[in-house]
This record gives sequence, C-alpha cells and structure tokens, in this order.
Amino acid sequence: MNNSDLSGQRVLLTGATGFLGGATAVILAGQGAQVRALARRPEKGVFLKSRENIEIVQGDITDAERMRSVSEGCDYVVHVAAALGGTLKYQERMNVEGTRNVMLGAASAGVKRVVHVSSIAVYGYHYEGDITEDFIQKPGRVPYNITKSQAEMVVREIGTAHDVPYSIIRPGMIYGPRSNAWTKTIFRLARLRPTPFLGDGSGFVHPIYVDDVVSMIVAALTHPMAVGEAFNCSADPAPTWRAFIGGYSQLAGHSRWLALPVFPMKIISPLIETLLTLRGEPQELPALITFLSAHKTYRTTKAQELLGWSAQVSLQTGIQRCAPWLREQGLLHE
Ligand SMILES: NC(=O)c1ccc[n+]([C@@H]2O[C@H](COP(=O)([O-])OP(=O)(O)OC[C@H]3O[C@@H](n4cnc5c(N)ncnc54)[C@H](OP(=O)(O)O)[C@@H]3O)[C@@H](O)[C@H]2O)c1
Repeated sequence: MNNSDLSGQRVLLTGATGFLGGATAVILAGQGAQVRALARRPEKGVFLKSRENIEIVQGDITDAERMRSVSEGCDYVVHVAAALGGTLKYQERMNVEGTRNVMLGAASAGVKRVVHVSSIAVYGYHYEGDITEDFIQKPGRVPYNITKSQAEMVVREIGTAHDVPYSIIRPGMIYGPRSNAWTKTIFRLARLRPTPFLGDGSGFVHPIYVDDVVSMIVAALTHPMAVGEAFNCSADPAPTWRAFIGGYSQLAGHSRWLALPVFPMKIISPLIETLLTLRGEPQELPALITFLSAHKTYRTTKAQELLGWSAQVSLQTGIQRCAPWLREQGLLHE
C-alpha cells in the first residue's frame, strides 16, 4: 500500500486541535483521506474548519461511549491526543485510560489499523549511546514518561486481545510551525544575545521536523510490515544542542553562546525536584541535566529497513521553514 491508498479511507484522528494532530489532519486530508478530527473543544479546531476532507467532531478520549460512537464507520485510527503535563493521576486518566477507550472504540469499529503516537520518553533518561526499539523501557518516576509507557502496554494488550492491528511510533522532540515547546520556546531562548545554556551544548538533542513525523504516521498506517511494531522517529544521527539552538540563533541573526556552569544546577536540582514532587509533578532533574549532556541517538534503522522511512527535512531546512510562523507570532522581525 502506498500513500495514495489512503484516498477515500475514513480516518479517526485524536488530538487534531494540537500541534502534531493539526499537521496530521492537513496532510492526511491532502492525500485524500476522509479525516474525522476529534476535538474536546471544536472551537480550537477553527484552523481546520472549511478544509476539504476534514470533519470536526466533538469528543473526549476519557469518554468510552463517545469513543465507540465516533469510531463507527472508520477504516483507521490515528491516536495523537495526550496530556503532556500534570499530575500522575491526571496523566493516567488522559494517557492510559484515554488510550484504552481509543483502542476499545477501534476494536468495536473493526478498523484496519491503529497508529498510536508514543514518545522516546518511554526509555527514560538513563540510557547512553545507540538506543533501539527493543530496549527495556525505564520511564522512572516522571508522570509523562510513566503514562506514555503504560499507554503502549494498553495498545498491545487490547490490540492482541481484540485482534486490532496496531503500530506505535516514538517521536523525539517534534518541532515546526505551531510547536510551542521546540520552536516557540527554544526560539525565545535562542534569540537572546548571548544565548544562555547549560555547558557548551555538545550533548545530543533529538529533534524531528513535524512533517517527518506525519510521514512516519502514514507509513505506520499503511505499510504491512508496521503491524505490531514500534518505531523510533528522531534525528539519526542526533545533532548537538549547540547545532539545534544555534540554528534558531542564526535565524535571529547572531551566534553568541553563554555556557552556564552545570555544577551549581546539579547542586540545586534535588531541591527543585523535591518542590515539584510536593506539587504532585515529580521530575528527575539531576538525570535530566545529565540527559542534556549525554551522547545518545535513538536509532531509526528499523523504520528505514522495514518501512523505507527516513527523515527528509534537515535541521537547517526545518528551522528555515519555521521562520514565517515565528514572524506571524511576532517573534522574528527581519
Ligand atoms: N511535541 C513533542 O515534542 C512530542 C514528542 C514526542 C511525542 N509527542 C506525542 O505527540 C502527541 C501530540 O503532541 P503535541 O505536541 O501535538 O501536543 P498538543 O499540541 O498539546 O496536542 C495534544 C492534543 O491532545 C488533545 N487532548 C488532550 N487530552 C484530550 C482528551 N481527554 N480528549 C480529547 N483530546 C485530548 C488536545 O486537545 P485540546 O486542544 O482540547 O487541549 C490536543 O489536541 C502526544 O501523544 C505526545 O505525547 C509529542
């Protein structure tokens, strides 16, 4: 099956009002799929309204009955929706129970395949070197990492028990127009002259341009070899933080870097970690600081070999493609 075979196929898409989901809706619809775009608040999907092949339907993934009814008549499901922050209890409800409802809805509709969007977060912060899909997941005590890992288990359990073909993709840090975390926030940091960052930025970062993630979603949805498999989806080889943030600095017209000493951060991070834990949102800050300076690559050999997928957008091109949106946001002036 190739991309054009999605033409006329009905695809239920969760998370359509978000960054990745919005891009996925537009690209799938452009390939002729009939996209049923799920939105908790349909007014947030205004940018999708009046586009050909996209129907916005109201619904919440925590509502099992609603997920059953919106899945009816669909050929495929792409499950993008998730909570990226909040307490463990909240993220369990959204990411684990929500995924259960999506899978059960898909099972009752008898869809041909579900693609579940997971994350490299499932591996946790501690591995070094080359990381492949068969590594044991060590999400630690960070709610997002834990619940994304548990969501994968739910996909496998229900997929196997109800005979729903599924595929899982694990993106790195997704950037591109409409990305708050890896475009807007990083650009705000990068345009500071000099740009402050922990250390010399020689540790590795794991960006992936949004269109490359969508092309993997399409491959996972349509390629026969994708069924029952999980795929890393990240820059391979990984660039350095200096190259990533420096690319945005260049867009802002400078290349000045301020290396902040790592040692004081290591001293105060356990205190900040305690405060976050008291708020019910534990993080592993010392491990996260080490993660920033680590040399690791989430290898994408499996997707290259099984699906014929590879990232097409270089870091330089991807950052350039963010420029018009950053201008629109009033962040980039030249
Ligand atoms: N961004 C990254 O760098 C990154 C990296 C790796 C993996 N991922 C994964 O990629 C996916 C999308 O991330 P994103 O960056 O696009 O996040 P996002 O912009 O925050 O989008 C999340 C989407 O999920 C929807 N959603 C959340 N809870 C819901 C619920 N209970 N019912 C229905 N919809 C719900 C949100 O709806 P509202 O608009 O109503 O809030 C929004 O449309 C997630 O699964 C995330 O774990 C992201």
